[in-house]
Amino acid sequence: MFESLKGLKRTHKCGNLSVEDIGKEVVVMGFADSVRNLGGLMFINLRDISGIIQLFFGDNDKDLAEKAATVRGEYVLAAVGTVAKRGEGAINPNMKTGEIEIHVKELRILNKAQTPPFYIVENSDVKEELRLKHRYLDLRRPDMQRKMIMRHKIAKIARDYYDENGFLEIETPMLTKSTPEGARDYLVPSRVHQGNFYALPQSPQLYKQLLMLAGMDRYFQIVRCFRDEDLRADRQPEFTQIDLEMSFVDIDDVIEVNEKFIARVFKEILDVDVKVPFERMPYKEAMDRFGSDKPDTRFGLELINISSVAKNCGFKVFTDAVANGGSVRAINAKGLGANISRKNIDALGEFVKTYRAKGLAWIKYNDDGIQSPIAKFLTEDELNAIIEKTNLEKGDVLFIVADKDNVVYDSLGALRCEIAKNHDLIDKNKFNLLWVTEFPLLEYDEEDERYVAKHHPFTAPMDEDLHLLDTEPQNVRAKAYDIILNGVELGGGSIRIFNTDLQEKMFTVLGFTKEEAWKRFGFLLEAFKYGVPPHGGMAYGFDRFVMLLSGSESIRDVIAFPKVQNAKELMTNAPDVVDEKQLAELGIAIKITEENK
Ligand code: AMO
Ligand code: AMP
Repeated sequence: MFESLKGLKRTHKCGNLSVEDIGKEVVVMGFADSVRNLGGLMFINLRDISGIIQLFFGDNDKDLAEKAATVRGEYVLAAVGTVAKRGEGAINPNMKTGEIEIHVKELRILNKAQTPPFYIVENSDVKEELRLKHRYLDLRRPDMQRKMIMRHKIAKIARDYYDENGFLEIETPMLTKSTPEGARDYLVPSRVHQGNFYALPQSPQLYKQLLMLAGMDRYFQIVRCFRDEDLRADRQPEFTQIDLEMSFVDIDDVIEVNEKFIARVFKEILDVDVKVPFERMPYKEAMDRFGSDKPDTRFGLELINISSVAKNCGFKVFTDAVANGGSVRAINAKGLGANISRKNIDALGEFVKTYRAKGLAWIKYNDDGIQSPIAKFLTEDELNAIIEKTNLEKGDVLFIVADKDNVVYDSLGALRCEIAKNHDLIDKNKFNLLWVTEFPLLEYDEEDERYVAKHHPFTAPMDEDLHLLDTEPQNVRAKAYDIILNGVELGGGSIRIFNTDLQEKMFTVLGFTKEEAWKRFGFLLEAFKYGVPPHGGMAYGFDRFVMLLSGSESIRDVIAFPKVQNAKELMTNAPDVVDEKQLAELGIAIKITEENK
């Protein structure tokens, strides 16, 4: 038998009651968090989104006490009663409402609940798979609710902030034509145009540029984007961007408006003052010092280029790497020699192999002198030159990779993070924000044997590099910038090309014929004929932003209903098969590929 809300109106949320309310008659509603029966005296902790309040049932009303005794965890309850101070021994200093309780005079059981498959408690260590299968229960946990609240608040700050700065929130289509953002598209078949497909947007990139052309001046949107790519802790197939675009701007204008936004979020959400302007670091410096275009600058372990001393040494691996246009670089793990055993070194050697490094050379300087598997290949002078170049002192251990530059950067960039993590070198209370700028405009795709845009094909080259576009395209830098927070790419953007000739030329450099370019982007090139203001913008990964601010390990933790590694949603089991009839209407026949059989 279930009771209704008839005649009852909630007066307070559970967690908002305080000693100020003592003596008031209140109506509260929520879930039974825990039930304790102390021989006739009943206590039920009632939980709603604001927190928990203790309900007390004395022994003077037998019927009420009996009813309370039937309550089990997660029952949905309404209670009417008077707020009272708890008895001396019963005060719970760990609870916001720990000094008070409600002396209940009416209890309604609005709904019963089965025993949940896991406890609804803070920081549950239950397997994520089970949590996601019953996400509605997982989201009842207070820490998950706090994350959803934080997410809401950051979205609200974004709306307020960009509104105050003249940005209009304008929606762009979800059923669109595919735009090249680098990932695979999610396609939606058309029923009325059989054989044709919409693409779900990887980002609203072209629409927002066209809005600038349309004279909207400043645009922003909190918008869902879709990318069919391999998932990781910071990637989902559908994710949310805070996306924006501005007219009549150059790099500094975009950066300035956005630094102030970030500073405001930190202040309002965490009460942390971040200093503006943020540091700016050219891409090349980021790669040379940190081996990454999203450097975590909370710790040292910077890369040291030892090519100049290694290029003529007796170790063929080193000399070959340099002769083939690559480099030899090192990380000095200062003072960690005693903490890094041979076994650890072997594990790190395996670790860098996952980044395509062929090996990890090392030099350890301890009480017994120098220890190194490559010492036998080096003369004393050569060894000393390396020691001097890397400032290797007693107690240190040096790690060296020789290879093509991109392999050296990837492996040592990852290695420095791994060492920092293993040896607790990261100050978790630090928020290091920096802009990485001056990205290369293009990247050579070995597989396709052509250049591809590093950011996207609408990004403008730096004015001073424009003349290199024909002759040395690989050396052209872009007016692009990424905002990095503690080694995570929080967002990125660029100043755009706003000139038809340059845009057409860019498509040519990317290997499109004029016909192909017009077929795919004709609407943009056509629009460009009608006067484009200089414009630029950026987009934040909103989920990543909330992840970092809430100290979460994965963006799955800040998305209400996320997908898992294999892109499934465990609760609804999407994606799933559909009826033959639905397929027939779309003119679609299924042919499973060999590798998926
Ligand atoms: P970009 O592709 O760099 O730029 O994306 C912007 C930001 O979105 C986040 N992000 C993701 N978050 C979760 N899951 C994913 N799969 C995922 N992919 C990207 C990242 C990234 O920095 N149109 C341009 C922006 C512009 O030029 O204005 C764009 O989409 O945090
Ligand atoms: P080997 O003579 O092959 O046993 O190599 C000697 C040491 O050099 C080992 O510690 C290897 O891990 C290391 N090594 C091999 N290839 C590379 C490389 N490309 N860069 C750095 N170290 C390497």
